[in-house]
Amino acid sequence: MTKNESTYATADRRTLGSTGPTVFPLGLGCMGMSALYGEADRAESIATIHAYLDAAPDGTHTLLDTGDFYGMGHNELLIAEALRTAPAEARERALTSVKFGALRTVEGGFTGYDGRPEAVKNFLAYSLQRLGRDHIDIYRIARVDPDVPIEETVGAIAEAVEAGHVRHIGLSEVGADTLRRAAAVAPISDLQIEYSLISRGIEAEILPTARELGIGITAYGVLSRGLISGHFTRDRALAPGDFRGMSPRFQGDNLDRNLDLVEALRKVAEGRGVSVAQTAIAWVLAQGPRHGVDIVPLVGARRRDRLAEALGAMDVSLDAADLAAVEEAVPAGAASGERYPAAQMAHLDSEH
Ligand SMILES: NC(=O)c1ccc[n+]([C@@H]2O[C@H](COP(=O)([O-])OP(=O)(O)OC[C@H]3O[C@@H](n4cnc5c(N)ncnc54)[C@H](OP(=O)(O)O)[C@@H]3O)[C@@H](O)[C@H]2O)c1
Repeated sequence: MTKNESTYATADRRTLGSTGPTVFPLGLGCMGMSALYGEADRAESIATIHAYLDAAPDGTHTLLDTGDFYGMGHNELLIAEALRTAPAEARERALTSVKFGALRTVEGGFTGYDGRPEAVKNFLAYSLQRLGRDHIDIYRIARVDPDVPIEETVGAIAEAVEAGHVRHIGLSEVGADTLRRAAAVAPISDLQIEYSLISRGIEAEILPTARELGIGITAYGVLSRGLISGHFTRDRALAPGDFRGMSPRFQGDNLDRNLDLVEALRKVAEGRGVSVAQTAIAWVLAQGPRHGVDIVPLVGARRRDRLAEALGAMDVSLDAADLAAVEEAVPAGAASGERYPAAQMAHLDSEH
């Protein structure tokens, strides 16, 4: 494992699939700035988005990932403010990736997904208004609506592409069959799906199918929501509503076993002078060339110091011996606990 002397200003760019945009190798996932990981500091969130936009070399598209249901509109409004207050050049090359479809209650509960074509148009109209833009760069339903064939949902987004309101069509947490059905309707730029050292389920069938269909991957949870960042501790107090308070991997014995894996990974990382988080992100970055698929990790940094650490992963090259050492510390399938609570696992087309 070498820490390159060069800065990531010279890093390559990645094209999402055969039809998607060419972007900076790391995307910024903005979810935690509005929801699910406890309270976030608004000024620091905006400063973090600005720092991310600034990190990419001039002329390189950056990728901001959000969902209209993250804080029920809060996250899109936050991104809109960050873009409004960014230098014009940075604003113009920032791409937005937006998920829609989740149905919510006043109390914040999730009650299902709506992928009907008329719902797609409704969600889109509200998102464009909140973002203050005339188009969304990548638009995708967060989870497949079991009552609406994916062809109809994707067909509605394809109409929005025709109308100029959307540039590219994405998917989220779908399996190989749904990927094929969707790709038969319209070009798909990328599948957004969880992928990390401790969530490697996509390697068996989904990654080969994405490769075959020319679809890229925007990988989320590359730090397993902080679990494998090297900063998470057993005694960390979680705010009410924090996803990690309900996630099986963060409970009891599962948490102990998963943090033992992190300690094994820490030994490998420290031996090479890089951090645990950087090693975990660099591992995902290394999987694109390995599997012949364009993979762009979305890092969920909510603060500038975390972002700086994550960006540093682009300067870490893992050779074959490093990859072997990392995978010996955290073997495939070693995670304890599912990646979502049972009720949410049921919504994952990718797990069926
Ligand atoms: N399509 C889907 O179903 C789906 C699902 C979930 C997320 N996403 C998208 O993917 C994005 C990333 O997901 P995620 O937030 O779960 O990913 P993540 O990067 O695995 O986890 C982010 C958490 O890791 C902690 N962390 C520690 N060190 C870090 C570092 N150096 N850099 C970044 N984070 C660090 C942060 O906690 P502290 O702030 O406490 O340090 C942060 O809350 C989301 O923002 C969202 O846009 C998509």
